[in-house]
Amino acid sequence: MAEPSLATTWTRKDLLDTDTLSREEIDLILETARGMREIRSRPVSKVSTLRGVTVATLFYEQSTRTRASFEVAAKALGADVVNLTAAGSSVEKGETLIDTVRTLEAIGADVIVMRHPRSGAPYLAARNTGAAVINGGDGTHAHPTQALLDLFTMVEHLGSLEGRKVVIVGDILHSRVARSNAWTLLRYGAEVILCGPATLLPRSYVPQLGENRCALTTDLDRAVEGADVVMALRMQKERQQRGLIPSLREYISGYQVNAARMGRARPGALLMHPGPMNEGIEVAPDVAHGAQSLVEEQVANGVAIRMALLYLIAARSRR
Ligand code: CP
Repeated sequence: MAEPSLATTWTRKDLLDTDTLSREEIDLILETARGMREIRSRPVSKVSTLRGVTVATLFYEQSTRTRASFEVAAKALGADVVNLTAAGSSVEKGETLIDTVRTLEAIGADVIVMRHPRSGAPYLAARNTGAAVINGGDGTHAHPTQALLDLFTMVEHLGSLEGRKVVIVGDILHSRVARSNAWTLLRYGAEVILCGPATLLPRSYVPQLGENRCALTTDLDRAVEGADVVMALRMQKERQQRGLIPSLREYISGYQVNAARMGRARPGALLMHPGPMNEGIEVAPDVAHGAQSLVEEQVANGVAIRMALLYLIAARSRR
């Protein structure tokens, strides 16, 4: 890819979830990410396309992958980056989210990448600033950039996802990763199976696109039969403390992705995990680091996807 030009067909100011993204919009993101990955592979893996653009990262929750990869992505495109966490900022003195995003806009932020423990917080921010807002994870609601990098990783390995069986296993009820992934996978025609203990499966709201609806199951051994992709989710320890699973031992016995379970999947099936992993809990260490594991590739693809999104969103605001 030559130096990217800023002519694109992207029209959205913000990226808040994957549920409203069309197939064409997702195709554009993935195609742009392929070009960005090529830029990243060069000896000098930087361009100056976003020179003069300021990207602020605003994180009210911990993050390694999302925050670092947005920073790397912004710098690879020549943008300036301001990093803010709740700790150490005026949020600790009681500043509201709205005042914080307006302050960032006033000091020149064109794009605000935010993570917040409250579901919906990025929507509130987006309504109250002229800067573009990218959701880096909000409560139990959505994590669109994770879903897009996961989709990108699957498509690069499998080609078409039409009819491919993707099993997502873990705490589905509280997982923003599972929700955002469900929407992109349904949009690409995959068969999506959400698996976990009954207490960690949603009772009412299950993503559905037309006739294509996610299936729910508590039986991982059956779910993984013939699967093309098995994605393990992090077991959040606070769920155990709240009594939503009987014990970690029970959870591991029923829901750990291990070699025996991967053996029931299609030969060469892909193992994915959004990270951070609790090795030995939701995924066995030999599987997490085995030949079928794409965990590190997911992280690397995260930079390309985030470069693509920053590029598309900044291009729109400059048109
Ligand atoms: N997958 C993910 O969101 O990781 P971080 O919490 O490290 O950003």
